[in-house]
Amino acid sequence: MAEKKLSGAGLRGQSAGDTSLCTVGKSGSGLTDAHPMDVMRTGASFLGNLEPENDFSEQNKAANRLLAAFPAIMVYWYKFSHDGVEIDCTSDEDSIGGHFLRLLNGSTPSEQHRRVMDVSLILYAEHEFNASTFTARVCASTLSDMYSCITGAIGTLRGPLHGGANEAAMDMIQKFTSPADAKEQMAGMLERKEKIMGFGHAIYRTSDPRNVIIKAWSEKLAAENGDTSLYDISVACEEFMWDSKKLFCNADFFHASAYHFMGIPTKLFTPIFVCSRLTGWAAHVMEQRTNNRIIRPSADYTGAEPRKVVAIADR
Ligand SMILES: CC(C)(COP(=O)(O)OP(=O)(O)OC[C@H]1O[C@@H](n2cnc3c(N)ncnc32)[C@H](O)[C@@H]1OP(=O)(O)O)[C@@H](O)C(=O)NCCC(=O)NCCS
Repeated sequence: MAEKKLSGAGLRGQSAGDTSLCTVGKSGSGLTDAHPMDVMRTGASFLGNLEPENDFSEQNKAANRLLAAFPAIMVYWYKFSHDGVEIDCTSDEDSIGGHFLRLLNGSTPSEQHRRVMDVSLILYAEHEFNASTFTARVCASTLSDMYSCITGAIGTLRGPLHGGANEAAMDMIQKFTSPADAKEQMAGMLERKEKIMGFGHAIYRTSDPRNVIIKAWSEKLAAENGDTSLYDISVACEEFMWDSKKLFCNADFFHASAYHFMGIPTKLFTPIFVCSRLTGWAAHVMEQRTNNRIIRPSADYTGAEPRKVVAIADR
């Protein structure tokens, strides 16, 4: 598109000050920089606008539509905004994981990669009353629609203390140059009281049973890739955190290297979690609806005690 020349009256085209807010379509900033989780959240909400769940008899249809659409929402946005490529959103893959890999790479995935995606999506699918699931249930308890419940859950999963940990773990391990460097840098992080992403869990106390499974796949993928660094660094992180703080890897930590070895961009790690956890969220929404009472806890008041107020006439 030809550049529009801005000049003339009304200070058109002249700078009148500084601002870091930008939504006028300047390339490389503003709306084009969307966070992928915002894309997923908006995608869920928008689908709810196009195809509303008119009554609860349509709940399975709503959940299935979201399940089918999420990989395409994520990969279409990624390919178009990053590479300017408009992908075909259909494939003849018969699993969500295979379909996702096909859209991402534009080629038929290997059996091993299909299997890892299946395992990963199963590991992430459901996990009791975690923060995002509880958000979905609170929303469902008001008798709201499926799309609103899922949209709220995505917003909750977005935070680094929940679903965002796999991306943060990847960013961290990529900065380490060797297992020894990892241990040294992590010691500094602990000293500075920084949270180390991919470690610890709100409920598990000694291990996360999902870790051993995804760790084994990460090791296999490292061998397939001829990796001599990232997997060993990850193992060094695991050893160091256990030895120094008795903190263990949660499901997110080895997901980081496993996804990386399959060529998945880090930005898509948390949106993949959405594609999986959607099944758990939807099941919880359905369960909440079968035996519903609005979730409305109480709070312990810690504010000021009642104060004596002198009437204006008596002051
Ligand atoms: C998951 C998480 C939010 C659970 O929080 P929590 O229930 O408050 O954690 P715990 O009660 O087990 O914490 C015990 C202590 O270990 C510390 N700790 C827990 N996880 C830690 C981590 N990943 N890095 C450094 N220190 C950690 C806590 O700060 C706390 O220290 P304190 O007693 O000095 O305050 C927390 O472990 C965390 O932030 N992990 C990193 C994010 C992450 O991987 N999230 C994905 C979860 S599946």
